[in-house]
Amino acid sequence: MDVSTAVEQRMSVRAFTDQQVELDVILEVLEKASRAPSGGNLQPWRVKVLHGDKMEEFRALMRQRLAGVRHPDGDRPEYSVYPPKLKEPYRSSRFEVGEEMYALLGISRDEKPKRLEWFAKNYQFFDAPAGLFCFVDHIMGPPQWADLGMFLQTIMLLFQEQGIDSCAQECWVTYPDTVEEFCNTPPEWMLFCGMAIGYKDQSHPTSQLRTKRLAPEDWLEVL
Ligand SMILES: Cc1cc2nc3c(=O)[nH]c(=O)nc-3n(C[C@H](O)[C@H](O)[C@H](O)COP(=O)(O)O)c2cc1C
Repeated sequence: MDVSTAVEQRMSVRAFTDQQVELDVILEVLEKASRAPSGGNLQPWRVKVLHGDKMEEFRALMRQRLAGVRHPDGDRPEYSVYPPKLKEPYRSSRFEVGEEMYALLGISRDEKPKRLEWFAKNYQFFDAPAGLFCFVDHIMGPPQWADLGMFLQTIMLLFQEQGIDSCAQECWVTYPDTVEEFCNTPPEWMLFCGMAIGYKDQSHPTSQLRTKRLAPEDWLEVL
């Protein structure tokens, strides 16, 4: 598979088959992805992989969280995923992708409990057979966070090459204490995001979601 095809075919997958992803394949992809560039070659990414029994153990813990059993430290988010009062055109983009997904699921705007129930699947890694968490040292700032993005996209494209699907997940910002304790991370690390890893369930409605992009004239100009 060439890079253009991987870029074109990659999509955020939120429904997976039971097929396992070999741990060796995941580790090989991660090692290859570490060729991603980073300012000053800091390579600020730190990763923990969940697979097999460990993944099931974590999912069981998260079911407790979702049932209301809180982490003693409170799981206070360490960063805001979006700016408060998101302005246009960002606001509409965010709204549209949500509406498109819920339309595919047949969940209308007034069915709040069903929407929440669907969103909660994030916290089971959408039942993917594997997942990862990406951390960064607290001292790092926006340039290093941008490096994490390059690293994560490289991972997702390399997974595509292997026929493996993924979904980056910032939603985990809601459970930093739970994730960091489970992953036994050093105190200086903070959680950036998670990623679900597995094989797309083609029969699931959300697997048909083809997200829109702005037209080049809305973000691109040749001077
Ligand atoms: C850093 C990052 C975090 C994301 N967090 C979530 C998430 O928590 N839950 C989710 O369902 N999708 C999440 N997404 C997926 C985006 O919604 C998705 O990339 C976007 O709508 C474009 O769709 P596409 O990936 O299918 O092209 C995230 C994507 C990125 C890059």
